[in-house]
Amino acid sequence: SGPIDISVGVENQQISEAAQKLKISIYFATWWALNVVFNIYNKKVLNAFPYPWLTSTLSLACGSLMMLISWATRIAEAPKTDLDFWKSLLPGFVFWFLDIFDEIPVVCFGATFSSENLWLMYVAVAHTIGHVAATVSMSKVAVSFTHIIKSGEPAFSVLVSRFLLGETFPVPVYLSLVPIIGGCALAAVTELNFNMTGEDASHCNVHKGISYGFMGAMISNLAFVFRNIFSKRGMKGKSVGGMNYYACLSILSLLILTPFAIAVEGPQMWAAGWQNALAQIGPNFVWWVAAQSVFYHLYNQVSYMSLDEISPLTFSIGNTMKRISVIVSSIIIFHTPVQPINALGAAIAILGTFLYSQVIIFDGQESPLRYFL
Ligand code: 3PG
Repeated sequence: SGPIDISVGVENQQISEAAQKLKISIYFATWWALNVVFNIYNKKVLNAFPYPWLTSTLSLACGSLMMLISWATRIAEAPKTDLDFWKSLLPGFVFWFLDIFDEIPVVCFGATFSSENLWLMYVAVAHTIGHVAATVSMSKVAVSFTHIIKSGEPAFSVLVSRFLLGETFPVPVYLSLVPIIGGCALAAVTELNFNMTGEDASHCNVHKGISYGFMGAMISNLAFVFRNIFSKRGMKGKSVGGMNYYACLSILSLLILTPFAIAVEGPQMWAAGWQNALAQIGPNFVWWVAAQSVFYHLYNQVSYMSLDEISPLTFSIGNTMKRISVIVSSIIIFHTPVQPINALGAAIAILGTFLYSQVIIFDGQESPLRYFL
């Protein structure tokens, strides 16, 4: 019976590997499709209502509400955290930074933070920064510009892994970053084709807008790399899956972001801007805001379900591949003018990502992106 058992075992393993590949492929395709819809509505909203701090907050609020309702109605199983878990996080808002790069529990206000809670706090801070920075960027420049800069995320992932975590990669991986970074630079180097949209296009304002757009996307790259690495550590060996992990993250990020959004923009600006947008667009504007908020939550939720299964680096590459569909669809929908040099840069960056996905081996396994290529 020995040889038969072995062949059955091998066959079963092949079936489960194929099922795993199919599952990740479905997650990726869903994540990318939801993200395209989010980007279109997000930009439509920002064009009419240029208050990125509020729209970022609304996305998180909508996601938090959707998850609280899903837990209450048992559409989704609530995570097994008790009230003490949430209470122990709150003073951490003030003290999380004391413990940024080590896992020594911080004691304050009589509450002891386990490293597990602190991971979630780091993730929430990084998610908040990355989210608001990307939205500010998209409020200042064309969607395609933000996403071209954000295609550099894998490079940030490798640099953070190398210099902060001491992880090394094979030489071809580093080499494949050259076309990614070079291509992004070429795509972004002339600002002419990435005009500000819906803004006062005086020369000075265009430059100011572009530097906000560029810096916002770069800050978002760095913050999201930290978010992904911390998230992966936070989820490791825990019973909480990607969907609920992202839900807890949304709720915490909402709490962190709200006071900053009020301080930076504030209800007065929002009320005037809202009236203006309603007058310009009509009642459909409210649906656009709802759509950008709902799709923001959905695509992130699916992306976290993928992250639960793959490495942070593969996640970043998947995210970069996603940007091809976002860039192409946004150029078509928003009629973004593109010059040949920028198109060439974008093509080189995309080719670099392709090469990267071919050479990257992570945890002894090939990148799941190879299934797509
Ligand atoms: C955000 O608002 O969080 C960004 O638009 C998301 O960026 P991502 O494409 O990296 O998820």
